[in-house]
Amino acid sequence: MSTSQTWLVTGASQGLGLTLVRQLLAAGHRVAATSRRLSSLTQLLGNASASFLPLETDLTTESSVAQAVSQAISTFGRLDVVVNNAGYGIGGSVEELSDAETRQAFDVNVFGMLNVIRQALPHMRTAGSGHIINISSIAGISGNVGWAIYAATKYAVEGVSEVLAQDLAPLGIKVTVVAPGAFRTNFLTPESLVLTRQPIEAYQAVRASHEKYLAMNGTQAGDPEKAAGAIVQLAAAAHPPVHLLLGQDAYKRATLKLETFRQELAAWHPLTVSTGFAE
Ligand SMILES: NC(=O)c1ccc[n+]([C@@H]2O[C@H](COP(=O)([O-])OP(=O)(O)OC[C@H]3O[C@@H](n4cnc5c(N)ncnc54)[C@H](OP(=O)(O)O)[C@@H]3O)[C@@H](O)[C@H]2O)c1
Repeated sequence: MSTSQTWLVTGASQGLGLTLVRQLLAAGHRVAATSRRLSSLTQLLGNASASFLPLETDLTTESSVAQAVSQAISTFGRLDVVVNNAGYGIGGSVEELSDAETRQAFDVNVFGMLNVIRQALPHMRTAGSGHIINISSIAGISGNVGWAIYAATKYAVEGVSEVLAQDLAPLGIKVTVVAPGAFRTNFLTPESLVLTRQPIEAYQAVRASHEKYLAMNGTQAGDPEKAAGAIVQLAAAAHPPVHLLLGQDAYKRATLKLETFRQELAAWHPLTVSTGFAE
């Protein structure tokens, strides 16, 4: 039996966010949901009601996020679970993506998340409870060819979450970073995905990697309904983990990363430990 909670979910007009919001409303939770376009939310999820608050929010602007969080609190009186879900993939080698394209990805995937956390925390601290769930990616644990900047944003999400979990544990607030593998959402569609507009001939492996991902669109092994269900289950856990992987592919990639990382650390151990003062 689950008790009803108040959730805030970002990027809720499609994909995982939309699926999660639908499940939460069906289960009797109260949900504040953000999107860049209010009409996208209301068309799909209906108008504001006693349990649903659609919010047009620009996650990259702190004042817009502040307004959304404060509206959620004033409407529902509390905030139990925050899901930082909004994000997009960006492909290209480092020199194929401009400074503006790179910063935009960090603005949405990292600074947007930080804006939400910064605005939600005063309420959670006062309550002495709450659960922040940040959606990262397996790319934030093990990056793939051609996705350096996306990986960088998700590594940032992982890093912030790991430390935030430690900072907030004494205050009664939980943090989990969720790293999905490939899920069948709009993530790999031209509407969501950004690919370099300045490809450089030399990066053939990058082109091949992008083609492989684009070909995967619509056939990803991960079911967003099950991912959303797992997030609901996570939020109901008395002792949620700091890290949660979603998908067999994510588990396999993370395990391989750990093994190769361990081997590399061991191979270079003598040099690693040779750098202290000889005392
Ligand atoms: N699907 C996968 O294979 C996969 C794998 C690993 C990680 N993820 C992560 O899972 C999360 C959800 O993605 P999804 O798979 O559900 O993809 P999606 O169907 O493309 O949905 C992405 C959501 O993020 C928001 N978003 C996208 N670009 C944005 C931008 N420039 N500014 C602000 N918001 C933006 C959108 O919000 P609005 O349109 O409502 O504003 C949208 O609802 C993302 O953080 C993604 O990185 C997905």
